[in-house]
Amino acid sequence: MINSKLEQELNNQLNAELYSAYLYLSMSAFLSTKNLPGFSHWMKVQFEEEQAHAMKLFQYIMDRGGMVTLQEIKAPQAEWKGIIDVFENVVNHEAYITERINNLVDLALEQKDHATVTLMQWYVNEQVEEEASVRDIFDQLKLIDGQGAGLFMLDREARQRTFTPIK
Ligand code: FEO
Repeated sequence: MINSKLEQELNNQLNAELYSAYLYLSMSAFLSTKNLPGFSHWMKVQFEEEQAHAMKLFQYIMDRGGMVTLQEIKAPQAEWKGIIDVFENVVNHEAYITERINNLVDLALEQKDHATVTLMQWYVNEQVEEEASVRDIFDQLKLIDGQGAGLFMLDREARQRTFTPIK
């Protein structure tokens, strides 16, 4: 059985992952209106990844005999100044998610809940990858000033991204 404080924080994280999915879906729609089909696709894959992060928590809470309590998902921002602004937002959002994950690890350690520590370790590693990949794109976008032939090339590259289901 899972400690109730931990159960509550895992439910909050489930909500945060669903909000992340929602945010990236909103970015996908916005980027489509900006004639960036590759980045719009990239965000849709990101949306799928976040849903998978959420579902991993969903299953874990149930596996531990906890109660999943779904909360309201707040509406995400719908418009940005442009592609650089979008990715700056992504970089900041992922840093925020990392902070949340770290807090969850702290709580699990405090509660001596080793199973949750192990689960959260997966998220810690995932965040390292996510932060690195979005920072990489953000830096490249700044390099080309978010426009011209460079943007065309990056958009074409973004189109190649595929979703890999997680275990
Ligand atoms: Fe689920 Fe992008 O963190």
